[in-house]
Amino acid sequence: MEVPEYKRRRTFAIISHPDAGKTTITEKLLLFGGAIQLAGSVKGRKAARHATSDWMEMEKERGISVTTSVMQFEHNGAIVNLLDTPGHEDFSEDTYRTLTAVDSALMVIDVAKGVEDRTIKLMEVCRLRDTPILTFINKLDREGREPIELLDEVESVLKIECAPMTWPIGMGKRFKGVYQLYRDEILLFNPQHGGKIAESTLVKGLNNPHLDELLGLQADELREEIDLVKGASHEFDLDKYLRGEQTPVFFGSAINNFGIAELLDAFAEFAPPPRPRQAEQREVKPEEDKFTGFVFKIQANMDPAHRDRVAFMRICSGKFEKGMKMHHVRIGKSIQVANAITFQADSRKHVEEAYPGDIIGLHNHGTIQVGDTFTQGETLKFGGIPYFAPELFRRVVLKDPLRAKALQKGLVQLTEEGATQLFKPLKNNDLILGAVGILQFDVTAHRLKHEYNVECVYDASPINTVRWVSSDNPAKLEEFKNKAFENLAEDGGGYLVYLATSRVNLQLTEERWPDIHFSATREL
Ligand code: G4P
Repeated sequence: MEVPEYKRRRTFAIISHPDAGKTTITEKLLLFGGAIQLAGSVKGRKAARHATSDWMEMEKERGISVTTSVMQFEHNGAIVNLLDTPGHEDFSEDTYRTLTAVDSALMVIDVAKGVEDRTIKLMEVCRLRDTPILTFINKLDREGREPIELLDEVESVLKIECAPMTWPIGMGKRFKGVYQLYRDEILLFNPQHGGKIAESTLVKGLNNPHLDELLGLQADELREEIDLVKGASHEFDLDKYLRGEQTPVFFGSAINNFGIAELLDAFAEFAPPPRPRQAEQREVKPEEDKFTGFVFKIQANMDPAHRDRVAFMRICSGKFEKGMKMHHVRIGKSIQVANAITFQADSRKHVEEAYPGDIIGLHNHGTIQVGDTFTQGETLKFGGIPYFAPELFRRVVLKDPLRAKALQKGLVQLTEEGATQLFKPLKNNDLILGAVGILQFDVTAHRLKHEYNVECVYDASPINTVRWVSSDNPAKLEEFKNKAFENLAEDGGGYLVYLATSRVNLQLTEERWPDIHFSATREL
């Protein structure tokens, strides 16, 4: 019997601390997956790393770099969808939301650095949905920490069992390759900086005398170490991996193309296809006939050549067909989708059909919000990552007052993406931007200038934090609106928020208004 299309899908994202090698691995996966011909085609390597200037540089190459938001390729019969996530931590909310759209994740760890901050945070997000995690320990061509010690660290800090799938033979200058525990094969390392794929030498069997000729003393060292590893580590257990309790671990050097092919093979073999997904109303199975999907990301002006806004939708069940009608649940309307797009490493093209696990791009004219669910008529809502109350606030000041309309438009469109949030006080015409990271203000100003031709500067804002406001008691809510008018605003989605000037102010207001609910997150 033919395998249903959705079962071939492997939809994942890479989680790592900046500099561990995410960009390099992405590129090499595309190379081995045949999606690109030569490494070096994935631009924006320095993207969003440390300084604003790096990010701005990337912005210039935006047309190329952001088409890599979703990358699809085929490997060993599997259709792999790799979802890119921003490297900079000021964009972490974007990453959290993207993680709601994947079925598994690849964790990349730098052999010299071990488990780092960002990895810990991202792992916490993965744990919310028990996302299965595969681990790649990178940069074995450099001196690093003892592999056993690293696995211990992953187990104790990230609270997940490790099952080594390959084991490194030396490291740094003595790095000779890896032993594949379950194939009883040795893959010998052949430094390869270029973009082409080189065959590694393969030796069958740990006890093969040929190994002593090739490795000298390191052959016996390896045999002893493997004995030890087998005794001290966990055996690979597919079910545990799928439950998110165990991570299979691979070693290699991405920049040298080493260990990537094995990683990709294992990924196609073990990583889960789409699984049933919980909506508020019921569980939705990928094999259901009817189409469902949800939007996890919105990006404005993705491609300077198109200058459009794209909503990224993850398909959860059924099948997408060009021209089909979809029901936009939040606003209760049907739309006909004639020109959804897919994304490939170097281009975008129109989708004829797509299946659960796939990501399609819908053209958005402002009606679609992050978190929106689409169905074929049923009222369903997939839960996602909410909006968090920002911690930093700036008042936007326009340089040329005649550009007020363009500013409004730009801010509305850019804040739709979710990285920054817009607040409009009820009492005046101020525009207040909120963000979780300072870099986002610079990026917004930069994009306003380049994408909307609006120049603005920022003023300090007295706001300390915001809370979304609601109440089961309409009369009390009205009363609150009147009394607290000076401190109220609408957010970009039209929801009511309280602007607190200090923690104390917030606390007092909460105490004074027990019938009003003050929420630090806005549910999508
Ligand atoms: P990121 O996306 O996770 O931030 O990491 P990225 O791939 O950009 O890699 C960070 C740095 O680590 C890069 O060096 C990259 O070349 C290097 N790197 C990646 N994989 C390996 C590896 O297997 N071995 C070694 N030795 N280095 C590796 P860079 O100097 O910061 O950038 P670039 O000048 O090479 O672009």
